[in-house]
Amino acid sequence: TPEICRALISALRSARRVVVLTGAGASAESGIPTFRDALTGLWERFDPARLATPEAFAADPDLVWGWYAWRRDQLARCRPNPAHDAVARLQRAVRARGGTVTVVTQNVDDLHERAGTQDVVHLHGSIAQSRCAMCGETAEPGQAGADAALSAGSDGAGEGKRIPPPLCVGCGGRLRPSVVWFGEELPVSAWLRAQNAAEGADVLMSVGTSSTVYPAAELPHIAGRAGARIVQVNPSPTGLEPIVHDDFRASAGEVLPALVDAAFGR
Ligand code: APR
Repeated sequence: TPEICRALISALRSARRVVVLTGAGASAESGIPTFRDALTGLWERFDPARLATPEAFAADPDLVWGWYAWRRDQLARCRPNPAHDAVARLQRAVRARGGTVTVVTQNVDDLHERAGTQDVVHLHGSIAQSRCAMCGETAEPGQAGADAALSAGSDGAGEGKRIPPPLCVGCGGRLRPSVVWFGEELPVSAWLRAQNAAEGADVLMSVGTSSTVYPAAELPHIAGRAGARIVQVNPSPTGLEPIVHDDFRASAGEVLPALVDAAFGR
């Protein structure tokens, strides 16, 4: 197990406010591809400009909806991994001591929630939700159109299969995934919650993110400037190292359970 210094253990035990910022690497051990890992990253295999921008959706809504249907089907077959479980345990342990743990994720999957973490802040939205691209109405999960189109996708929504997006019951506009595409603003309430949590954090853990996409990547700097102890968990360097106090060059599924065990017991 990784070497965990006593200062970090006591910082976690005495922390009043902890922030855990996660990226795609936290879901990697659940079998969900990251974006920028060599060979396997989604942006190594697909062109984000054709799949993850408002212009792409306007140009070819069927391709974009089909690609997200493929990703949703992939997620439906995945389960939380030990990293997600450890984050949920951390939140329970710190709450039991009267503290708070704010989990801020860039991921659009629901694996933190499925592991039992509460009040997750989704900076980049959720792939499980859809909304009307015209009137903004959130599509009910059970809305026939959305599910029908997605179940159509489930019999092999291939990586490039086109699926016409379902139509909004309110205005007839096309539905789109409720995720933040490149060039789009983050949900304001999510960003404000994340920023406030970082400004008041005693400890901020950056887990499984390349720290390259802003404004999410600003959060460790905000916390560091406010005096937080910065922890990073990533098998590769990210450029965040100059402000990191505890740098674990290993996988989230290995480090997070060991950290929570060391600080709060099994
Ligand atoms: N444990 C921890 N970290 C891991 C693991 C693992 N098992 N496997 C990979 N990683 C690390 C990689 O080294 C990399 O630094 O996870 C990071 C994933 O980086 P990205 O693929 O860039 O994903 P992320 O940082 O979440 O991307 C941010 O970019 O495309 C947008 O909106 C998308 O939310 C995403 C944002």
